[in-house]
Amino acid sequence: MCGIVGYVGRERSLEVLLGGLKRVEYRGYDSAGVAVIDPSGVLHAAKRAGKLGVLEDALRAHPIPDGATGIAHTRWATHGGPTDGNAHPHLGDDGRLALVHNGIIENFTELKTELLAEGFEFASETDTEVAAVLLGREYRRLGSLVEAFRAVVGRLEGAFTLLAVHQDEPGIVVGARRNSPLVIGLGEGENFLASDVAAFVEHTRKAVAIGQDQIVVIAPDSVTVTDFAGNPAEVEPFDVTWDAAAADKGGWSSFMLKEITEDPTAVADTLLGRVHEGDVRMPELDGVLDGVDRIFFVAAGTAAHAGRLGVYAIEKWARVPVDVEFAHEFRYRDPILTPGTLVVSISQSGETMDTLMAVKYARERGARTLSICNTQGSSIPRESDAALYTHAGPEVAVASTKAFVAQITAIYLLGLELAKLRGTLTAAERQALLVELQAVPGKMLQVLETHERIAELAHWMADTRAVLFLGRHVGYPVALEGALKLKELAYIHAEGFPAGELKHGPIALIEPGIPVFVVVPSPRGDAELHKKVISNIQEIRARGARVIAIAELGDVAVLPFADEVLPIPLAGPFFEPLLAVVPLQIFALELASAKGLDVDQPRNLAKSVTVE
Ligand code: G6P
Repeated sequence: MCGIVGYVGRERSLEVLLGGLKRVEYRGYDSAGVAVIDPSGVLHAAKRAGKLGVLEDALRAHPIPDGATGIAHTRWATHGGPTDGNAHPHLGDDGRLALVHNGIIENFTELKTELLAEGFEFASETDTEVAAVLLGREYRRLGSLVEAFRAVVGRLEGAFTLLAVHQDEPGIVVGARRNSPLVIGLGEGENFLASDVAAFVEHTRKAVAIGQDQIVVIAPDSVTVTDFAGNPAEVEPFDVTWDAAAADKGGWSSFMLKEITEDPTAVADTLLGRVHEGDVRMPELDGVLDGVDRIFFVAAGTAAHAGRLGVYAIEKWARVPVDVEFAHEFRYRDPILTPGTLVVSISQSGETMDTLMAVKYARERGARTLSICNTQGSSIPRESDAALYTHAGPEVAVASTKAFVAQITAIYLLGLELAKLRGTLTAAERQALLVELQAVPGKMLQVLETHERIAELAHWMADTRAVLFLGRHVGYPVALEGALKLKELAYIHAEGFPAGELKHGPIALIEPGIPVFVVVPSPRGDAELHKKVISNIQEIRARGARVIAIAELGDVAVLPFADEVLPIPLAGPFFEPLLAVVPLQIFALELASAKGLDVDQPRNLAKSVTVE
């Protein structure tokens, strides 16, 4: 969703701002715009509906002068359709100030009525323009952009990141954030503001996270952060651990393909430094797990599927009750939260508004909060008591892949840490599980080698209209994830079911030729469960389904009943999902490619959903 970039420094704003927008493109957007103050102190703006290329073409046809100060924006339409007029920046103070916004201003109707009554005019249908016009009015009254900002944020309800420039104060960009993301990049003689570090990482890896309800002013040689009342705020500088190359497509045909091939590294890097002498060691969790008697995972989308796996693993290993909930459901049902409750949020971006709100809700009600997150400096870890970072590196494709396997890895580490604290697994048992976990990246590489075969299958199935996914126990979240990937990327009706539920309804969907993926558990793990899944396969096969089994290499029992077997290497029961999901990621990617679809930016989706 909306991406924001601000820059002040040298006379190269256009290059920095457009380059920054390119790097936050993955967030999903439908229009883009830029505003720059030229060296003579005149503000210029350009904005267009469509992809960045449309804006770039417009700038070539009608160039605006470059300058040393500017702001830019990619918009994901909420209030008002994706048109040139609704695109940001929006102007105020008779075109002397420009403003961009991410979030939703909930009381914009009331503010607009007030401004209309005072004779102000509006050029768009957006909530954002109300903030721009209001800022203009306050600027007229107070004569200072920062003062005007303070006055405006006091009037706004909802979630927002705002950036603004005014041509009468050409050397600064002012920003404010409440619930929506904003990070500072510190350069030499230049500074940056952006929704995430990807926008400026090619210029600097020194960053500062901005807290809740804070105002920031960047000038070429200074950065000032205060609260909304103007009191100096504590800031938290950090170094970005990856470089610009990590966020580039390199030679790959898509970010998603690149990121699937990074599954093994995402697991390995998330383990790095956290296993010491055969046991887990995670100082970042010190104190937060003591006395925990109940765990909730809260998340959305793919991250919620990782949480569902956590339920199986952590209850088994640490013998503590665990539940997983969609973050957007959690806080609307009055869950029982006590000081012994640990609410573990899982989020790649660290910005999903539903998840952020669930974390705040949990904290306000006295629960402890832990964030499993892939993005430094993002909102959710900052709002949590502790953070356990996944180290998947920047994930750009909208559909989550490598972040998912990194999340599972972090959850398993958490489970082992809890088992250590609670004495529910012996040191030898923990060590054996860690050995399994450390073996996963190597085994994933073997799965990646089967890419071609999965691609053939997908291309052959390009006209398929519906696909079912079945799994049991830890295979069930894998089935859910396989279905989600296919929906997101290939726009095919896909559902994941627990295989045992089949005869209680879903079996009615089985008709001749319908493809059904079945995640088959290892016969060496729970033989009984394996047998049950084989008989589920027989049931659907008897009704004409085309069965594609994801099964352990050498599982001969599955061969007579499956039309296709996608093999995965031998692994312990909890580690199979990390392998079984890889063919499903590849399948979704290849099927979408076979249909000629954009795999990195599927329609209607945003990578980071920063509105509720
Ligand atoms: C969006 C994306 C999904 C993602 C979910 C959670 O819906 O389209 O792919 O799984 O958000 O994102 P998060 O950043 O919180 O993991």
